[in-house]
Amino acid sequence: MTQIKTIGVIGAGQMGAGIAQVCAHSGYRSLLWDTNAQALDRGMAGIRSQIAKMVEKQKITAADASTALENLTSAPTLKDFGDCDLVVEAIIERFDIKEQLFRELDTLLKPHALLASNTSSISITRLAATTKRPTQVIGMHFMNPVPVMKLVELIRGLQTSDECYQTIKAVSEKMGKTTVLAIDSAGFIVNRILCPMLNEAIFLLQEGCTPEDVDNAMKLGTNQPMGPLTLADFVGLDTLLLILQILHRELGEDKYRPCPLLIKYVEAGWYGKKSGRGFYKYEG
Ligand code: CAA
Ligand code: NAD
Repeated sequence: MTQIKTIGVIGAGQMGAGIAQVCAHSGYRSLLWDTNAQALDRGMAGIRSQIAKMVEKQKITAADASTALENLTSAPTLKDFGDCDLVVEAIIERFDIKEQLFRELDTLLKPHALLASNTSSISITRLAATTKRPTQVIGMHFMNPVPVMKLVELIRGLQTSDECYQTIKAVSEKMGKTTVLAIDSAGFIVNRILCPMLNEAIFLLQEGCTPEDVDNAMKLGTNQPMGPLTLADFVGLDTLLLILQILHRELGEDKYRPCPLLIKYVEAGWYGKKSGRGFYKYEG
């Protein structure tokens, strides 16, 4: 197995920040970077505040918290990732932008380094093919919120080596996660099932149900911790739309067609919790 000591995380949004937090907590030297300096500052501040809350709730000791914070660095540039043994990409859900980043990382990283994508739906085989290290590319799909959710879906591209898979499985387990192996088909397991459900909830809203009724029905009727519209806001409506477009295009079935109301919300910039407004309004 490849020895992993330093993990770089790219994209400091809700997923990247959570992944960097968990990496640092699990004893890895961790770097976090984002093209948007404000997002990077927000991500780092969010991690510090989450760690402080864990100390307050006595989930970890103050000593554990300072070790985790010492393990974590906010990187000034992408060039600082040259010594990483593993890079986890958690940027916008667009192949063209991920491809550009993967090409850059491929030239920057040492030959042994592994590249993982936290993509929700994009083909790992296709991402791997953009690099000169396709056997060392894998899907490592964390769930939101990363520090709380137990699952990491692992996705092997056609080219992914056994060594790469075993290494990433061991890293995920060291982070306290349980892994499942998904096939490299759009949406893998979780989003193939979850996103059509969230989309269907938006169709119900479009047809006249209230958001509260849709959410209460699913919370009280099927014991889900969050109703589907709350969950859609939590995931990010921009991200949900990108995932549904990929499912629709790749799998070719009408059942994945994004609801027109979702498209309208994204056009309005109502991305959900992260923008302050989605199907609900959020403060702070
Ligand atoms: N970061 C870190 N910890 C968080 C957190 C966050 N963003 N949000 C909540 N928590 C912690 C809280 O601190 C709390 O910890 P304690 O129990 O130790 O006090 C715990 O989680 C429970 O939180 P709350 O009591 O505030 O609220 P809750 O009981 O409603 O739980 C929740 C919050 C865990 C988010 C829960 O509502 C839930 O499980 N929702 C569904 C989440 C889900 O389905 N995620 C998958 C999304 S799909 C995906 O990720 C894939 C994709 O590609 C789109
Ligand atoms: P987000 O919008 O919260 O954050 C994305 C971050 O990536 C932003 O801060 C943005 O500035 C940054 N970014 C964009 N292009 C970049 C680039 N070229 N280089 C560096 N940084 C760049 O999004 P998110 O919810 O964290 O999602 C990130 C990835 O994780 C996506 O692939 C998404 O599909 C996947 N994912 C999301 C969820 C979820 O529930 N939101 C769950 C699992 C996986």
